[in-house]
Amino acid sequence: MKVEPGVALVGDIAVPGVKGICQRGVLLAAVADGESELRGFGHAADTDSAIAVARALGAEVTEPADDVVRVRGIGLRGLRQPDAPLDCGNAGTVMRLVSGLLAGQEGRRFELVGDESLSGRPVRVDVPLREMGAHVETTDGHAPVVVEGAELRPIRYELPVASAQVKSSVLLAGLLASGDGPTRVVERLPTRDHTERLLSSLGVRVRRRGHEVAVEPVESLPPLSLDIPGDFSSAAPFVVAATLLSGSELRIHGVNLNPTRTGFLDVLERMGARLAVFNRRSAGGEPVGDLEVRSAELVATEIGPEEVPALVDELPLFALAAAMARGDSVVRGAAELRVKESDRIETVTTALRALGVRISETEDGFRIRGVPARPRGGAMDSHEDHRIAMLGAVAGLVSRDGVEVGGAESVAISFPGFFELLASVTRR
Ligand code: S3P
Repeated sequence: MKVEPGVALVGDIAVPGVKGICQRGVLLAAVADGESELRGFGHAADTDSAIAVARALGAEVTEPADDVVRVRGIGLRGLRQPDAPLDCGNAGTVMRLVSGLLAGQEGRRFELVGDESLSGRPVRVDVPLREMGAHVETTDGHAPVVVEGAELRPIRYELPVASAQVKSSVLLAGLLASGDGPTRVVERLPTRDHTERLLSSLGVRVRRRGHEVAVEPVESLPPLSLDIPGDFSSAAPFVVAATLLSGSELRIHGVNLNPTRTGFLDVLERMGARLAVFNRRSAGGEPVGDLEVRSAELVATEIGPEEVPALVDELPLFALAAAMARGDSVVRGAAELRVKESDRIETVTTALRALGVRISETEDGFRIRGVPARPRGGAMDSHEDHRIAMLGAVAGLVSRDGVEVGGAESVAISFPGFFELLASVTRR
């Protein structure tokens, strides 16, 4: 797919529902009692993987409208042992979170598989779930994963790396733990808290004290009725393109502004971006607002480890913004990027270099020499990583010669309509 240079981004748009809330919503609805309804659901390969897994475990899922999903749950301890392995596709969130629920299904055995990319990433939930009493086997810490459900006991687990997926997996297992006291997870840096918010909204006792999150076990969960706001990570490519293309004026309506997710807004603002939020409100226990973006000239900045969790999925886009900012930018403490859908330190560096950007990789981040002018453009490859494909598309718009994006179809992992929506607001 060739993305030609653009002049400006102008208009009003909305982006699909938060991927991680769609996935969490489906998985929780599968173990709730009765019928749940998720509105604002963003169908994509990763969210459809959550639906497929929920169905294979015995939940009934229907789709009465494009963005509405109904799930008839089978109870917290009622998940069925399927005949075939559970296919999580490319979705690490699905594999790690559902493992927490499976760990407490006494006497049943589940096998989880993923695509090549997911099978190359560390599973990480095997260690705490084993400590809670489940029998978990991996292949050298990777998928396929076999989980044999057991009676679980509460633990206190210190996350060895900042990971919302690992935190969530342990908290979900904690719902099923019996014994004294809550299950506790300690995180030195706060990661996204969608799971905690959803559980609280269902009446589960979730407490945060300092760096520790604690969840009390429950007998059952009530059904969910949820309005899912737009995904900030899907809005971010538009925010960057509108900032970098002079004359842009773009509004993105109904975006989730959970502070554990919007670190990129703070970084862009200190670089000089012109961003405004209107109509702050709340939906489904999450903060929401309309984002307005106007073009601006940017200056370089540095991002350190403490900032990384709140913008981890936006760091590829940060590299592009930094490439067109005045001065040298640095990202440190982002080694987690190496185990995302691709090794994003490598794929970002290789892709942007091929387009004329002066960027070099370090062990745990990258350094970018910014030039306030359009990069040349050329050809790059997404390595089947949706966020790298979207990076390539934005790079094409802000480049001199356009960008040929290899593996562009991988945007469908999180955002199937991405290219159409981008074209609809691009002025050439
Ligand atoms: C996610 C958490 C993040 C993020 C991923 C989705 C989630 O991963 O990169 O895209 O839904 O919890 P980790 O927090 O595990 O690093």
